[in-house]
Amino acid sequence: MNIIQIINRKKYKENLSQEEINFFVQGLVSGSVKDYQASSLLMAILLNGMSLEETSLLTKAMVDSGGQVDLSSIPGTKVDKHSTGGVGDKVSLALVPLLASCGLKVAKMSGKGLGHTGGTLDKLESIPGLKIELEEKNFIQAVKDYDAAIISQTDNLVPADKILYALRDVSGTIDSIPLIASSIMSKKLASGADTIFLDVKVGRGAFMKDLDSATSLAETMVYIGKSYGKDTQVIISDMNQPLGLAIGNSLELIEAIETLKGQGPKDFESLVLTAGSIILKQAGLEMDQGKGEKLLKEKISDGSALKALKKLILGQGGDPELIDDYKKLPIASAVTEVLCPEDGYIEEIDPLELGLLSADLGAGRKVLGDKIDHGSGFVLRKKVGDFVEKDQPLLSIYHNKDLDKDFVKKVLAAYKFTKEKCPPRTLVYKHIS
Ligand code: URA
Repeated sequence: MNIIQIINRKKYKENLSQEEINFFVQGLVSGSVKDYQASSLLMAILLNGMSLEETSLLTKAMVDSGGQVDLSSIPGTKVDKHSTGGVGDKVSLALVPLLASCGLKVAKMSGKGLGHTGGTLDKLESIPGLKIELEEKNFIQAVKDYDAAIISQTDNLVPADKILYALRDVSGTIDSIPLIASSIMSKKLASGADTIFLDVKVGRGAFMKDLDSATSLAETMVYIGKSYGKDTQVIISDMNQPLGLAIGNSLELIEAIETLKGQGPKDFESLVLTAGSIILKQAGLEMDQGKGEKLLKEKISDGSALKALKKLILGQGGDPELIDDYKKLPIASAVTEVLCPEDGYIEEIDPLELGLLSADLGAGRKVLGDKIDHGSGFVLRKKVGDFVEKDQPLLSIYHNKDLDKDFVKKVLAAYKFTKEKCPPRTLVYKHIS
């Protein structure tokens, strides 16, 4: 067997065998398969696809390329949750403590943001002193002692994905369903949870631009999860406008805290409750989703969810007092208000544009390794469908550096207004299990 034969087989749309896929992945990690050969195979996969079976085999080979986290010493069902990434997506920050307040132990590994999408770790790192890099044994101990922890992926997990992702990034091969599905699922499977919940974002601010491709990605990941014997459920949710109101690290953390105080934006709270009730069902804690939502709301209103967040912060070395004193968080020194240029209904708020502009402010990374400004970002004052009058506040820009002269113009270009009332937007399109 050699790599050129394998590339040729995929080039001619043939299905690769387990041995061929293993040969490729092992060669990639050992260095015997060169970057240019791997890129060529990745492009053949992007163009000619992979069957569900092949995608599952690729995922397995990727999982086997490194270590796996053993969570078995933590009692109970261990649940995991992952989003394919969007703008304003701070669901994990609210959901993880909320689930912990219901009695679940949550051991979660998250990622950093890149491009227009934010990352849970950057949002958490707004908290002075909070550690996101824990050794596996300390991570497990933190979950046992404090019920939940969110850390960065340990170094030995899925090394094949690190190589493949970097190659995909520079070879135009990110947007392939089998490659995205195997990348996400290999990391979820290696992280050791018993059940997996995935939020696939669809729309302008997401990887998946249309419902058909989002559905295909969701079905592929459910297939992979099930072939590993793990209950895997997916919702497909909207990313045609930012989620909630805040974009940017500290600002999103504050919004998550406010949500646990019962004062979050409606769309964000609704998504947290939907995801939470499905996860409670996956864990066998509450089989009726309506009752699950009720339980989650009770944990918010009686303060248990907030307490669980304080515990999580304490367990990772941060100062839990910040929950009642946001001055302990980095907040940008200047706030510039953007006013509405005309009367009308908001028809569109482009999440991709606002995500990219927030990265210009320093809230996100343009390239891996960029330093983050945790205090900068946006807070929307209105959402799609709202009526606004000329000169009413539309959005606040939090910034530490001076704004370019046309920055506000660029922000306004993300908006579309109409004189007609807009139909209500769907938040969750599908639940696939
Ligand atoms: N997130 C991942 O982890 N991998 C992908 O390929 C895309 C999104």
